[in-house]
Amino acid sequence: MKILVTGGTGYIGSHTVVELQSQGFEVVIVDNLSNSQAWIVDAIADISGKKPVFEQFDLADQKLTSEFFKRHNDLQGVIHFAAYKAVGESVEKPLMYYRNNLVSLMNILEAMTENQIENLVFSSSCTVYGQPDELPVSEKAPIKLAESPYGNTKQISEEILKDTIKSAKINAIALRYFNPIGAHQTAKIGELPLGVPNNLVPFITQTAIGLRQQLSVFGDDYNTPDGTAIRDYIHVVDLAEAHVVAVKRMIEKQMKNAFEVFNLGTGNGYSVLDVIKSFEKVSGEKLNYKIVDRRAGDVEKVWANPEWSHKELGWKAKRNLDEMTASAWKWEQYYRNKN
Ligand code: UD1
Repeated sequence: MKILVTGGTGYIGSHTVVELQSQGFEVVIVDNLSNSQAWIVDAIADISGKKPVFEQFDLADQKLTSEFFKRHNDLQGVIHFAAYKAVGESVEKPLMYYRNNLVSLMNILEAMTENQIENLVFSSSCTVYGQPDELPVSEKAPIKLAESPYGNTKQISEEILKDTIKSAKINAIALRYFNPIGAHQTAKIGELPLGVPNNLVPFITQTAIGLRQQLSVFGDDYNTPDGTAIRDYIHVVDLAEAHVVAVKRMIEKQMKNAFEVFNLGTGNGYSVLDVIKSFEKVSGEKLNYKIVDRRAGDVEKVWANPEWSHKELGWKAKRNLDEMTASAWKWEQYYRNKN
């Protein structure tokens, strides 16, 4: 049972490779290392005892992608993580985002069709819902006009999948992630943002370890109990486990439709201050933060209705917020001590 994991040295990808290996899958990673590093392959091997095959190239290159799939035409499925994901950067460099995120998906779908590889799991995002009219948000909620080119690439990618499955012999599952945080319990892999982090938890742990002076909390005048914005944070290992379930569902031909969509969230909403409190509790550190203006493009509150995933996938997020922040902190300390 051989699975291709694109973006397999990245944050969610690396955790998913470990879970696939622990379930007996053979894994091939393709990554261009644009936002990750080659040593992560060794860290994965360190955890699982199995070194995944690793090929470094850019999936936006059609020729290289086609050649790769010809060499690996015995794949049972593909989990496609490789994409750019920074909302702000996508506003600055929209064409870079459209080219990278959409062209690579199209190259993969073409090469899968040519080599009769049928199963694709796609990394989507709760960003497709924008600020939903109803909370918790279910998969049936309308797709809102994207706030950023990044968000638009996720929406367009889902459209590309929907259209492709009509004519090609391809099945696709789009997993809409809420806010993945945390790290592997061994602290050997975790989130590794290049430069100044955009996301909340890496900014918290980098501030606590002394790399950043102060965390800015973006807005305390939202219509929420403590005024700060609410998200559905989910442990990256829970997320990784869901990918293994999705791949098995495809291989075992359990899908109800050739294109399926699932929310991956816990169903719990936590505010920015809740996350800070959890971090301070588990780490024993006092975090230096201040309230500043809202960040452009942020939604006020969003959390998942995960019922459909529970029912259809038989998957449920198990790890709570304290386990998420504690594992993120353990990873930050391990990584900085090592380097
Ligand atoms: C965003 C995207 C999501 C994308 C993810 C990856 C939306 C709605 N969500 O998540 O699709 O996959 O980025 O990059 O577009 N915060 C602070 N201070 C900080 C950083 C964040 O207060 O320094 C706050 C934010 O305002 C927000 C919360 O923390 O309320 C979470 O922010 P972040 O971790 O950046 O994730 P999202 O913006 O929710």
